[in-house]
Amino acid sequence: MSTATHLAPAGYTGTAKSLHWLIVILLIAQFTFAWTMPHIGRNTPVTTLISLHFTFGVIILAVALIRLLFRLTRGVPEPEAGIPGWQENSAQIVHWLLYLLLLVVPLLGWINADWRGMPIAMFGHELPHLIAARAAGWQWTGDVHGLLANYAMLILVGLHVAAALYHHMVMGDGVLKRMLPGRWIK
Ligand code: HEM
Ligand code: HEM
Repeated sequence: MSTATHLAPAGYTGTAKSLHWLIVILLIAQFTFAWTMPHIGRNTPVTTLISLHFTFGVIILAVALIRLLFRLTRGVPEPEAGIPGWQENSAQIVHWLLYLLLLVVPLLGWINADWRGMPIAMFGHELPHLIAARAAGWQWTGDVHGLLANYAMLILVGLHVAAALYHHMVMGDGVLKRMLPGRWIK
């Protein structure tokens, strides 16, 4: 038991780490469904893979919301000592853009599935519609959903992972370790 409650923890809490790595696993499954499901066009039937894509996408949205709430109320550990200001700032920008995409991408997918009149079922229950089928002005949501996921999200995740590996292997600092399971929590 720690008595030094005035000290910021050296690493992310178990909850923050669990939510971070849960999202990573869910996203790997989600991109696998996205890239193997049939191309979605007019009158495409909702196959098992498409339905799994919807269900996992909604779960990602829910976990991202919980994570964001946790982040906004509980904060983050102090930055690692000796990290240059520009790296700290760019890391912050990438993290907030990732949070934003984790909300906007599934919401656009949901809106597009509604627009197409495709049912979104979660454990046997159909979810409410955010817009009506073929509602005017919402046709673009499918293309933007795919582009943001396939490009914006994957490019940012690529930069994010490259930075984590750079810190670990080149700088030899604790940036990666404080997000890994186990120790580092004081
Ligand atoms: C973070 C969560 C999500 C990610 C990363 C994601 C990713 C993707 C990707 C990459 C595609 C394009 C597939 C291709 O290359 O052709 C796609 C298409 C699609 N996704 Fe998602 N998706 C997510 C959540 C959702 C959700 C929650 C729904 C609906 C409930 C959804 C519905 C759709 C639909 C309808 C399409 C076809 C869009 C079109 O081509 O017009 N997605 N998704
Ligand atoms: C193998 C893949 C990944 C690795 C090695 C990794 C590594 C890390 C590390 C080390 C941190 C802490 C950075 C710091 O303390 O400044 C972090 C934070 C973060 N990661 Fe990842 N990550 C990965 C994948 C992802 C993915 C796929 C997403 C979401 C799309 C993501 C979103 C975030 C966010 C939003 C934070 C900021 C947490 C906060 O301070 O609020 N990461 N990641």
